[in-house]
Amino acid sequence: MSEFAQLTFDENTIQLPVVRGSEKEIAVDISKLRGQSGLITLDRGFKNTGATHSAITFLDGEKGILRYRGYAIEELAEKASFAEVSYLLIYGELPTVDRLSWYNNSIVHHTLVHENMKSFFSAFPLGAHPMGMLSAMVSTLSTFYPGSQSSNRSMEDIELTIHRLIAKLPTLASQAYKHNVGLPTVYPQNELSYTENFLYMMFGLPTEEFEINPVVDSALNKLLILHADHEQNCSTATVRVVGSSQANLYSSISAGISALWGPLHGGANQAVIEMLEQIKLDGGDLQKWIEKAKDKSDSFRLMGFGHRVYKNFDPRARIIKKAADDVLEALGVDDPILDIAKELEQVALKDEYFVERGLYPNVDFYSGIIYRALGIPTEMFTVMFALGRLPGWIAQWKEMTENNDPIGRPRQVYTGPTERPFVEIDGR
Ligand code: SDX
Repeated sequence: MSEFAQLTFDENTIQLPVVRGSEKEIAVDISKLRGQSGLITLDRGFKNTGATHSAITFLDGEKGILRYRGYAIEELAEKASFAEVSYLLIYGELPTVDRLSWYNNSIVHHTLVHENMKSFFSAFPLGAHPMGMLSAMVSTLSTFYPGSQSSNRSMEDIELTIHRLIAKLPTLASQAYKHNVGLPTVYPQNELSYTENFLYMMFGLPTEEFEINPVVDSALNKLLILHADHEQNCSTATVRVVGSSQANLYSSISAGISALWGPLHGGANQAVIEMLEQIKLDGGDLQKWIEKAKDKSDSFRLMGFGHRVYKNFDPRARIIKKAADDVLEALGVDDPILDIAKELEQVALKDEYFVERGLYPNVDFYSGIIYRALGIPTEMFTVMFALGRLPGWIAQWKEMTENNDPIGRPRQVYTGPTERPFVEIDGR
């Protein structure tokens, strides 16, 4: 039975179709609003606006639910490998044993990047932020694979580009890290898993054997799964809008990496650690920093707190908080920053300001503490987020392409000067 919402303005009443999702979410479809009424909607930051239909990830912000293709994040984080989750997001179903073997075998044979790309890394200044290098290098991949640029690419072409990108991002990420620490890169090893290969390329050296710590590998696997997709967040919306112009996948993902870099988004995991270090250095007066976060005249925000969708605990934060205890204990790491984070959470969640606004720890609040324990430097934290989010970005780009979504081009309400004549200035 069709359902409608009624809109009355200026003695004109129109019916707008109401659509329901598979999880009973409801939306007013305004795709014909301007034609029927001359009106557009205005929604800064798209807080109330759905951009598309999607079958990939479901969030319930009130209940703290996150599911990839119907599977609960808690189960996937506990039982799945990151390779299985990336396959699930991209292909829509968990892989069979044979399909997973085919997928892993394809990925592992695309892990090398063109040797010419080393000269680009050597041109970056020492200390260049790895997110800046990563975004540039991913876009550069499109120049080495011109076939990826054509808009009439076949599904086989798209699949090859997807596998190339999934395979090469860890290689590029580790090369960005090695550039800044002045150590030689090591080449990926085909017998290693996706996460093992990344750890090997990050911390391995050509001069010695490298032993993968299973605790580190398992923690990395869990963190990548927890970051793999999150419906229409800022960077995913960016990937979809860029891709909607029929730009190639490399350029679309490069734009997503840039959007993720911002401290209000994925860059928050780096900002959280810098904030906790600052609080520690300042003597650890937590109430002082809570008051600063509440003070509208102060630009300070409690990084890692709050979320556009979750007005309750971010289910990923719960999992990461527990993993932080387990990983640090297993590695014998005692990090005072974890205690400060936990105390800060306790103080904030007793404060009306945070409770009434539904500001809880999000995915970025505890993740940096684990990355630190794994030996990953702070400036690489958002790169880790990008590594995890890559299959989600790709799945969303692929869905947008397959659904032939129209080019993304929002309207506006103009508030500038009305028409005025050009007057030549004397003597010009
Ligand atoms: C990610 O969208 C996703 O799914 C993103 C993500 C993903 O997986 O892709 O989950 C990953 O980006 C997580 C968020 C990481 N960012 C941070 O931790 C930065 C700190 N958080 C905030 O900047 C903020 O909470 C946002 C950006 C996350 C959400 O901002 P919104 O939805 O635009 O909310 P808002 O800024 O309008 O805040 C509502 C109120 C405001 O106060 P009032 O105007 O009602 O008085 O809450 C206040 C804000 O001032 N507020 C905060 C706060 N976050 C919101 N006050 C202090 N500290 C904060 N962190």
